[in-house]
Amino acid sequence: MSTRERHDPLEQDDAPGDALTVNRGGFLSRGAAVTGWGYALPPNVVTNADLVARLDTSDEWIVERTGIRERRVGGTTGELAEAAARRAMAQAGLEASDIDLLILATTTPDQAMPATAVGVAHRLGVQAAAFDLNAACSGFAYAMVTAHAMIATGVERALVIGAEVLSRITDQDDRSTVILFGDGAGAVVLEVLPGDDRVLAWDQGCDGSAGHILFCEHGSTVEMQGREVYRRAVRTTLESIQAVLERAKLSPDDIALFVPHGANLRIIEGINQRLGIPMDRTAVLLDKTGNTSAASIPMALAKAAEDGRLAEGDNVLLSGFGAGMTWSSVILRWGR
Ligand code: UT7
Repeated sequence: MSTRERHDPLEQDDAPGDALTVNRGGFLSRGAAVTGWGYALPPNVVTNADLVARLDTSDEWIVERTGIRERRVGGTTGELAEAAARRAMAQAGLEASDIDLLILATTTPDQAMPATAVGVAHRLGVQAAAFDLNAACSGFAYAMVTAHAMIATGVERALVIGAEVLSRITDQDDRSTVILFGDGAGAVVLEVLPGDDRVLAWDQGCDGSAGHILFCEHGSTVEMQGREVYRRAVRTTLESIQAVLERAKLSPDDIALFVPHGANLRIIEGINQRLGIPMDRTAVLLDKTGNTSAASIPMALAKAAEDGRLAEGDNVLLSGFGAGMTWSSVILRWGR
């Protein structure tokens, strides 16, 4: 009989070295840690100057209002996801046969079915459960929480990917959206860590009454009430971050690196100011990528790790908001 069957989960002893521990949410679980990371961008660069050449806009307007200077476009969601996942697996020192779960967070699947994740798994040689998850720009953080829960119940090594080709669903003649969005992918490997959980806390939710302020119908392009999204984004993200900090029993000062969804530099600065987290402890990539929805957090995280901005034991705060409105925040402790 397993330990799980013998004990009431909430009564479980937290014995050192035991693979089963009680996490902060009170659930019986095995811990998990990020052991690999990677990101991929398509080669085509669209600068603000490229947009100014064909639309009624200016570099000053775009930079002042969004912080974006260029974005990458092209490829398919599956291709970008595969490239990012290969880097994350190499970083973790894993083979395809080691992976027993693949979750692809995306708003832009390559087709309605099968899931884009299935093709990515096939090309990687991964034979495991694979599915897409759509929580718009919160998708990667939602996928991390989902993978963490599945690791608690038996999965050992999960590939968690955020990948988007937003250029495919953006009206190239609409100056209010085309300046914002870009394509890319980021991925991490989340591995079981017996006796210690490096996913400290999470918070997520949605308010479906706000579905109309940011949406895309089948076969159409993104429509957005920018001001309203902006207003709600700051409020929602702050509330979610406060909730996740409380659950982890941490304060903003304890956060070594904040990785917000990269939608707009002004939104990030507004959140940082209210939290008291300086920009030098914040991972921002959107000046070079634009808003890449579910890909933005894993790309910024992977780039920060690649740049040596993360050390063993650092507390890392991921927080996203997006169409829905959805939100999701996760606090990780870096390292194994
Ligand atoms: O991942 C989540 C998804 N989305 C977001 O997070 C977006 C959140 N919202 C935003 O980032 C901002 O609302 C925008 C950057 C989209 C827009 O900035 P804003 O300061 O809220 O501008 P606005 O939409 O209120 O528009 C102000 C003016 C308008 O002209 P009028 O009506 O005042 O004459 C727009 O037509 O700016 C005009 N405008 C532009 N002007 C030059 C809109 N887009 C452009 C443009 N270039 N590209």
